[in-house]
Amino acid sequence: MAESGTDIDKAKALLLAGELVAIPTETVYGLAGNALNLASVTKIFEVKGRPQFDPLIVHVPDFAAVGQYATNIPEEAKLLAQHFWPGPLTLVLSKKNIIPDLVTSGLDSVGLRCPHHPMTNKLLRSLPFPLAAPSANPFGYVSPTRPEHVEDQLGNKIAYILDGGACSIGVESTILGFENSKPIIYRLGGITQEQIEALIGKVSARTYSSSNPKSAGQLQSHYAPRKKLVLGNLHELMKKHSSDSYGILSFTENFHLRNQVILSSQGELSEAAQNLFSALRQLDKMPIDIILAEPVPDVGLGKAINDRLRRASS
Ligand code: TXA
Ligand code: MG
Repeated sequence: MAESGTDIDKAKALLLAGELVAIPTETVYGLAGNALNLASVTKIFEVKGRPQFDPLIVHVPDFAAVGQYATNIPEEAKLLAQHFWPGPLTLVLSKKNIIPDLVTSGLDSVGLRCPHHPMTNKLLRSLPFPLAAPSANPFGYVSPTRPEHVEDQLGNKIAYILDGGACSIGVESTILGFENSKPIIYRLGGITQEQIEALIGKVSARTYSSSNPKSAGQLQSHYAPRKKLVLGNLHELMKKHSSDSYGILSFTENFHLRNQVILSSQGELSEAAQNLFSALRQLDKMPIDIILAEPVPDVGLGKAINDRLRRASS
């Protein structure tokens, strides 16, 4: 079992000593280590069982810190950071040499993000280095949105879980980079495409790439529960799977079944996002063989939710 608590000084001391600490953010819990220390970064890949071709996001206390780690920062990136930082937006920028190649898997760009959580912001401000932090789950599995989720899967592998309660957004950050000076979304997440476009105009999204994924979140199967998940119209799926032992993941509808989770009975996408990963974990623990799920309305945060559901189903 990992010790868990709200002691920021303890988290700081462990990180200074090169250890890993699970940290709360507004999106999901991160598995954090000193981004400038090869031994710490190596530990992150090991504990997560993550292939080294999959780069890590580097967390900074504010936009002022970005200049230390990135160069050639486009105006749009500045504007986006101004509006959405601290918050669930990762900017992929040209990296400076101080960021180890291991962090970026050899790419010449680095993903930078300033998270929005009071404890983690305080921690970041108190440290002399930025924090590399992937989601604190084994590679490919559902991201953790509560400290218990981290304990469940990585509890025996890390020193400390900084307990910041349940994550307020519940899906990972949106990842945006630039190619030939054009902004491009690599992962849909907590800041919606609509919000980004309202600020900088039309952006394209390339969230799937099987041959050369820029982001593991682009892999077709990711964010997946262990049980098979089928996505579609629930009424039809229930008929089709009537002889199977299934559980239901609905957006709002109550089917009055024992093995069922409703994402938001009020039909709120923000509430559905908050509940999504907990719901998948709950269903994974139910005495069922298969999870039947339905997409949510494909607007705003709904796009990120549907993206995770699709990947969970493949
Ligand atoms: O909300 C979040 O972003 C959370 C919290 C902890 O901050 N972190 C997170 O990290 O989701 P992770 O490692 O689970 O997902 C980060 C994604 C990976 O799929 C990685 O491939 C992509 O970011 N990424 C990192 N650096 C990149 C780069 N230079 N270019 C393209 N993609 C990058
Ligand atoms: Mg992840």
